[in-house]
Amino acid sequence: MKAIVVYSSRTGNTKLVAEAMASALPAGTPCVSVKEVPADLASYDVVFMGFWADQGNADKAAQAVLKEITNEKVALFCTLGVPPVSPHAQETVEAAAKLLPNGQTPVGYFKCQGKVDPKIIEMMYKMFPEGHAHGKSPERDARHAQAASHPDENDLANAKAFVEEVVAKL
Ligand SMILES: Cc1cc2nc3c(=O)[nH]c(=O)nc-3n(C[C@H](O)[C@H](O)[C@H](O)COP(=O)(O)O)c2cc1C
Repeated sequence: MKAIVVYSSRTGNTKLVAEAMASALPAGTPCVSVKEVPADLASYDVVFMGFWADQGNADKAAQAVLKEITNEKVALFCTLGVPPVSPHAQETVEAAAKLLPNGQTPVGYFKCQGKVDPKIIEMMYKMFPEGHAHGKSPERDARHAQAASHPDENDLANAKAFVEEVVAKL
């Protein structure tokens, strides 16, 4: 089985998850950023494709790669500000899956929370008034505080377990 992990990461959260996933795959499995996608991507039996959530979809750099993945077996993973069980998290990975060019159904999804860049939080709080969905509120502050410790050891262990489950099903 020839696997590859490809990730897009702005502040490092998704990269951490990608590296944990690669560590659960055979030694030598490539783990590359979207800037280093190999020309022979289509020759891999399975692609683990990771991105950070950006406005309810994969981030732009990941979107460009998703649109080019022709492999039959694709597992998607992402880090996002909201808890992975929230509907927004599921909608985000489904939006990303729709970008696959051949209508492939991903062989699995993995989502985990990732700390949000404090500069972005500050910017959003300045941009949107208190009470607005993106503005400052006790709930919003609590969610950012909760995300601040992720991905944690438990998330990385779950990411490895996810890889093992996907591989066992191939
Ligand atoms: C511009 C921007 C847009 C974002 N949009 C979302 C979003 O729609 N939903 C969400 O849950 N998190 C969102 N986030 C949070 C990031 O997806 C999250 O912090 C992620 O873990 C960052 O991953 P990275 O460290 O690999 O870049 C956004 C972050 C930024 C900077």
